[in-house]
Amino acid sequence: MKKLEIEGGRKLQGSIRISGAKNAALPALAATLLTDEPMVLERIPAVADLKTMEGLLQSLGAELESEGERRTIVTREIGTAEAPYELVKTMRASSLVLGPLVARTGRARVSVPGGCAIGARPINLHLAGLEKLGATVRQEAGYIEALAPLGLQGATVAFQRITVTGTEDLMMAATLAKGETILENAAREPEVVDLAAMLNAMGARIEGAGQSTIRIQGVERLHGATHRIIADRIEAGTFLIAAALTGGELTLEDVNPEHLGAVIAKLRQAGAEVEVLNGTAIRVSRQGEIRPVDVTTEEHPGFPTDMQAQWMALMTAASGDSHVVETIFENRFMHVAELTRMGAEIELAGNCATIRGGKRLSGATVMASDLRASACLVLAALAAEGTTVIDRVYHLDRGYERLEEKLAGVGAAVRRID
Ligand code: EPU
Repeated sequence: MKKLEIEGGRKLQGSIRISGAKNAALPALAATLLTDEPMVLERIPAVADLKTMEGLLQSLGAELESEGERRTIVTREIGTAEAPYELVKTMRASSLVLGPLVARTGRARVSVPGGCAIGARPINLHLAGLEKLGATVRQEAGYIEALAPLGLQGATVAFQRITVTGTEDLMMAATLAKGETILENAAREPEVVDLAAMLNAMGARIEGAGQSTIRIQGVERLHGATHRIIADRIEAGTFLIAAALTGGELTLEDVNPEHLGAVIAKLRQAGAEVEVLNGTAIRVSRQGEIRPVDVTTEEHPGFPTDMQAQWMALMTAASGDSHVVETIFENRFMHVAELTRMGAEIELAGNCATIRGGKRLSGATVMASDLRASACLVLAALAAEGTTVIDRVYHLDRGYERLEEKLAGVGAAVRRID
C-alpha cells in the first residue's frame, strides 16, 4: 500500500497553481447525463473520485474522451440507469446521478450508500425532494429505485437541513420537470453556484443559486455546452494553512479568493498575513507566533467542515488553547487520535475539541482515515520534528491532485513510498 514520507521543519516558499474543484466537478459530470448532446468540461482535476464518477457515467452509457484536464462527454442514450454497489460504496457522491437519471429517463436505481468515516450520511433529503417532484421512491435489496414514468413535476422543496449534494441533485432533477420548482433552505456553496451556471449554459432556467431560495423553471430539453470548473477552495485553503503553519510564503494562483472568506479571516486572526493580489491570486506568509483561534464549522459562507481537520493541525502549533466545534458531521474527529500520536494534546467532548497549543509535534507513523483527515496529517507532518510516514494515502488521492508534487515544488521534503 502506498505511503507518504515527510520530513518536517521546512518552510514552504513559491507558487502553486490550484486545481479544479473536486466537489464542483462531481456534480458537473453527473449533469452531463441530462442531455444527449456533447458536453465539454474543462479543468477536471486528476483525482480518484472523479475517475470513479467517470467510470459510473460510462457504465450508464456515456462516451468519454480525455485530453489533459478537458473531458468531452456524450450520452446519446442511457443504458441501464443503475449505479451499482461496487461504485457507490467507494464514493457516496454517486448518488448525484439520481436526479439526472430520473429527470431524463423516468427511472433511476442507485445502491444505498453506507455510512463512512465521518458519519452516517443518509440521503433521505434527496429522496424526499424527488418524491415532492412526483417520483415514487422505494428501497429494496440495498437499492433505491426512483420512478417517474410520466416525468417530474415542479414543486416547492423545503430542505429540513442544508445539504450540498441534495441541493445539487434536486436542482438537476428540476431542470427537466414540468413547471416551476422552488428549493428552500438550499445550500449556498460555490459548487452549487457553479453547477447552476453550467446548467444554465445548457439551456436550464435557474435563478438564485448562491442564496437560500433557488427557483428553477423546467424546460423541455437541455443542450450541449462547454463549462470550466471553479478552483478548489479546499485545496487552496489547505495550502494557505501549510504556509501559515511552516512560516513560509506561498502564492496560490488560479483561485477565487471570494470563496475563501471565512478561512482567510480566521488565518488573519491567527497571525498570518494574507494578501489578495488580484481577483485570482492569494499570497500568504507568517512571521510572528500563531495565535489560538476558535472555529465552529458551518454551511457556506461559514467556516467549512472540509477545512476543520487542517485547522486543527495549525492550532497544535498555536501559542495557547483553542476550540474546534464540528456541527456538520457527527464523527469528523478521526484525525485527533493520529495527531495525538504525533504528540498533540487534544481533548474531545462531544462535538468540541480543545487543542492545547504550543507543543512541537514529532514525526511518527500515522494512518489516514478520510480525505481531509489525511490532509491534516500532511500539514502536521510538514511542521513536525523528524520524519512522519502516512499510511493509506489513497484517501488523499481521492481529492488532492498531485499533492506531494505540488508540495515538493515549494520546498517540502515529501516522497511517496511503497
Ligand atoms: N444529511 C442528511 N440527509 C441527507 C443529506 C445530508 O441527514 O439526505 C446530513 C449529513 O449527514 C450531514 C449534513 O446533512 O450531517 C450535511 O451533509 P451534506 O449533504 O451537505 O454533505 P454532502 O453533500 O454529502 C458535500 C461534500 C463534502 C462536504 C459536505 C459539507 C461533495 C461531493 N461532498 O457532501 O465533501 O463535507 O458537502 O460541506 O460535494 C470532502 O470533500 O472531503 C467532503 C466530505
